[in-house]
Amino acid sequence: MSTKIEAQELKEKDPMYSLGRKHVLDLDDFSSEELETIFSSADAMAEVMSRDIKKVPSLRGKIIMTLFYEPSTRTRVSFEQAGKVLSADVINLAASASSSTKGESLINTTRTLEAMGADVVVVRHPHSGAPYLMARYCDRLRVINAGDGRHAHPTQGLVDLYTVRQHLGDVSGKKVVIVGDITHSRVARSNLWGLLAMGARVTLSGPATMIPMDLLENSGTYSKNNNKGIGDIEIDTNLDRAIDSADIVMALRLQLERQELSLFPTIREYCKYWQVNETRLAKAKQNVLVMHPGPINEGIEITSAVAHGIHSRIKDQVKNGVAIRMALLQELLLPKTGDDV
Ligand code: CP
Repeated sequence: MSTKIEAQELKEKDPMYSLGRKHVLDLDDFSSEELETIFSSADAMAEVMSRDIKKVPSLRGKIIMTLFYEPSTRTRVSFEQAGKVLSADVINLAASASSSTKGESLINTTRTLEAMGADVVVVRHPHSGAPYLMARYCDRLRVINAGDGRHAHPTQGLVDLYTVRQHLGDVSGKKVVIVGDITHSRVARSNLWGLLAMGARVTLSGPATMIPMDLLENSGTYSKNNNKGIGDIEIDTNLDRAIDSADIVMALRLQLERQELSLFPTIREYCKYWQVNETRLAKAKQNVLVMHPGPINEGIEITSAVAHGIHSRIKDQVKNGVAIRMALLQELLLPKTGDDV
């Protein structure tokens, strides 16, 4: 399916609601103002999560369904937790136990969930574009993309941007190095949109076989217009050079399950040239933030010492996952005049 054409059609605005949109499919059309709305809301949600009694009535009476066709720990659990803290009813539907195993189409599954009264469905699917297809067949139901194939993972992008904002404040002008399997990473794509919207300078690094061909062929510096001005993307397959003076280093998981064939000779070679380790990290800024969306192949794309070291913000990413998803659910489902938390 043509994801880009459908993305245009699905950028349906919904001015009655705080977020002003019906679905959250990717970050490609989010403005810095919209991102800031979610982050401010997440600040309030983080305060709720710091209380002894983690419960507020904001989404009482709302029904959230999670529909995961791929395994997940962080995303699925944090959406469930977010919904429950906001007093929504959360129903988890494992695809392996659903009627999709009997041949029911994704379109009919969507119609079924809507008919049963779901307000929002959070979907993860191995096929890029699946949440877009679902959104086309929704009337009242809203769709949140929890990761589709190698295409997008907008809520992980929000988590990562929020974590950067928490530690560095304004990300504008900061050097962000994303290293690893860029081609197969939905996280890298969604992060890229968000980082550019916030005015960051992004360097993509990794084996040439893991950098999208169109970027590699025009290797060098790109400028992308966005609503805040210009965001830059640089491609540098040499991580030792790319990491120089970095403010943020994001390591990506090797997506071995999404590679059609081996894209580098051995794991040992990958570690030698692209692993985020202490020696390489010493070339970045002194207060560099190390991030990883998880799950981690510890000892491959990142060493244990760095993953659990003083620069690591990986635990914060996981913790912030709940506050961000609470914020997103609330901004999406509550009318503008809704109760404050
Ligand atoms: N980062 C992420 O999506 O993790 P899970 O696969 O555990 O949800």
